[in-house]
Amino acid sequence: MPLKPTKRGPVGPPAHSSGRQEILTPDGKVIESVPKKTRGRQGLFGRIRDAKADSSPATSAGTKAKKAAKGLDPDLDAVDPNSPWHIDERRFPRYEPIASQLRFCLKYAVLAPSSHNSQPWKFHVDASGGEGVAGCVEVFADRTRAIPVADPHDRELAISVGCAIGHLTAALRHYKLAERVAVMPDAKRHDLLAHVFAEPGAGETNVRDALLFAGMLKRRTVRHAFENRPVPERLANELIEIAKTHGVDCAMVAGARPRQMLGKLVAEADEVQLASRSFRRELALWMHHNRSKAHDGIPGYAMGMNELMSLVAPLVVRTFDVGHGRAAQDEQLVEHSPLLLILGTKDDSQASWVRTGMALSHILLRAAAEGVGASYLNQPIEVDALRPRVAKVMAGIEHAQIVLRMGFGPPVAHTPRRPVDEVLMQAELPKPKRK
Ligand SMILES: Cc1cc2nc3c(=O)[nH]c(=O)nc-3n(C[C@H](O)[C@H](O)[C@H](O)COP(=O)(O)O)c2cc1C
Repeated sequence: MPLKPTKRGPVGPPAHSSGRQEILTPDGKVIESVPKKTRGRQGLFGRIRDAKADSSPATSAGTKAKKAAKGLDPDLDAVDPNSPWHIDERRFPRYEPIASQLRFCLKYAVLAPSSHNSQPWKFHVDASGGEGVAGCVEVFADRTRAIPVADPHDRELAISVGCAIGHLTAALRHYKLAERVAVMPDAKRHDLLAHVFAEPGAGETNVRDALLFAGMLKRRTVRHAFENRPVPERLANELIEIAKTHGVDCAMVAGARPRQMLGKLVAEADEVQLASRSFRRELALWMHHNRSKAHDGIPGYAMGMNELMSLVAPLVVRTFDVGHGRAAQDEQLVEHSPLLLILGTKDDSQASWVRTGMALSHILLRAAAEGVGASYLNQPIEVDALRPRVAKVMAGIEHAQIVLRMGFGPPVAHTPRRPVDEVLMQAELPKPKRK
């Protein structure tokens, strides 16, 4: 059925016609079934709905407690055993060589968020060692997975790889492997974004590390409207401190005026981006239906779509300019977000993008540990002409890199991932020849 955009209102196919709305994993497993009657509205990019209405946990508290008492991860068997999200942390190969330990920690690195779930990373494990170092993971950008229209400078690509580095260091610390990261270690190798060095047994795990790791399997992007309940100020301040430890600025968007400015900018960017056919085509390529077997991209359920919507949405996005509807939705989301953060850096180099990603990973993990979800309002940063205006929303931001909205939302299924084997390089890339 062709969709007719309304004037500055949400657009999209009709709601599911059965009595209940189901949210499915890529294998068609129902993770959530909620009554069709919600107080929210239906939009092409999912429902803006009352988060509280859907916040019933997938597993009952009693069952979870019993599993935890037996020493089992209560959430583990809710996950498809073949999914990269199914990790039993007790299987860490503590008595095996460093190469095996690093490969195990990479299972967590691949769970990192990435722009369009493009997962633009590759890793090489080097166990040759050196002074004070037992092993090293070389982290590369995989530019074959670039998103050239939305991200023409590969900025978000580098941030995404930074997220994988952040996840990796959080896992290394959890397993008491002392870690040190060298960002852009070789000026001649533009795609080598970091060396992550590790030393077994030398690390200490503190409360902060424990809280990062606790968020690892809980974190996912929550695109729904958040509950009308504030994010604790203590946590918000901690997130800002986490960014600082990575050399990244983080400003809380406080006050009606900055919030309004940001809302208008996001809406303006939505209209610019979605008016572009090439942008829409690119976006549609990364949108998948709910039963897709793809290991990357964004399934419809992650955007709150039922099966039918997830089938038609890529076609709709490719064909129609839905910018008006999206702009109106996003402006509302900004207005009602319990917490809005802008991450920024002093310069706009690839090294700063990688550090932004590391900060982003740790912010998201820390928040997830406390049940706080996040999603992105990066649109005005992605439009070159609007980007400088994002920095003007809050003092202390020079080069805006990421805009996050955060709060308490409903449970959302994980999106797919490429397993470690798919992103592990067997041999190091050839070094560039000297002239
Ligand atoms: C640098 C970066 C930019 C992103 N930009 C957006 C965005 O503009 N809109 C959005 O809905 N999600 C955005 N995301 C979230 C990804 O789509 C999401 O991480 C990915 O689909 C994987 O899903 P997950 O986070 O639930 O694991 C971004 C993520 C990263 C790391």
